[in-house]
Amino acid sequence: MRIRKAVIPAAGLGTRMLPITKSMPKEMLPIVDKPVIHYVVEEAIKAGIDDILIITGKGKRTIEDYFDRSFELEYYLREKGKLEELKQVEEIGEMVDIYYVRQKKPLGLGDAILHAEKHVNGEPFAVLLGDDIIVSEKPGIGQLIEVAREKEAPVIGVERVPQELVSRYGIVEGVKIGDGLYRVNNLVEKPSPSEAPSNVAIIGRYVLFPEIFDALRETPPGKGGEIQLTDALKVLLPQPMFAKEITGKRYDVGSRLGFVRANIELSLAHEELREEIISLMGQIIQEVSHE
Ligand code: UTP
Repeated sequence: MRIRKAVIPAAGLGTRMLPITKSMPKEMLPIVDKPVIHYVVEEAIKAGIDDILIITGKGKRTIEDYFDRSFELEYYLREKGKLEELKQVEEIGEMVDIYYVRQKKPLGLGDAILHAEKHVNGEPFAVLLGDDIIVSEKPGIGQLIEVAREKEAPVIGVERVPQELVSRYGIVEGVKIGDGLYRVNNLVEKPSPSEAPSNVAIIGRYVLFPEIFDALRETPPGKGGEIQLTDALKVLLPQPMFAKEITGKRYDVGSRLGFVRANIELSLAHEELREEIISLMGQIIQEVSHE
């Protein structure tokens, strides 16, 4: 079984990052010199995906422009002899086949996924949330694809979180059957720490099968009037479903702290910037400790 299609929902309003998200999609926020969604697309490509559907919405045109060719810019860079920059810009336009569909109203992640039904056309598919960056040797979504192929069942990407943070996540109740691998028995959306069945939290990566679409249609709007993907996954239980702890570092760039942290840490991964950033950080720490 090959999984070659990915869906990137990117139609949310990004209210946690207001006011910038008033006129700029959070998926386009810069992390050093690339927008968040560029990292997400790269992760999918590394995992063998060759067809990507981005769910966009109102005010998200810059995402399409970013992955499109820019002939004026390419012409300008060629004329000026800026060949390194030209190569970079051309490569973005040729990364992978990217398609778009618009979610007319932000009715939730579940509703966004429902918009992918025609495009995935009966195949299993990967889902990568457009505001989560995962940095790891082996691409985050690739780790889930491996399990989905072996088990021929849906797989949810998870991470263990501190007990006091469980109420921010969907939480998995399951049986551990391998290294970081669980068979899912139940899913609980945003439980209080005392009610949470575990600290195994759902993060922004999934491998889903076409059955999810009927489940989504059966799912009534939940929290905040939105159709929740977690609720639809619950409809599919007790069919086999798995959760896999993704190894690597995750940044929730849709939150202020996650965004700032991603910028600091990923700039340290930049060869040209690393030394300067370290010395800058030393300087800043000295300055604030004298305040
Ligand atoms: P979030 O809940 O993080 O996105 O959804 P949000 O609603 O934009 O964020 P806040 O809480 O208001 O800051 C996770 C992913 O699902 C997409 C988002 O773009 C994000 O990638 N999404 C969410 C949609 O595509 N459509 C929706 O209706 C809601």
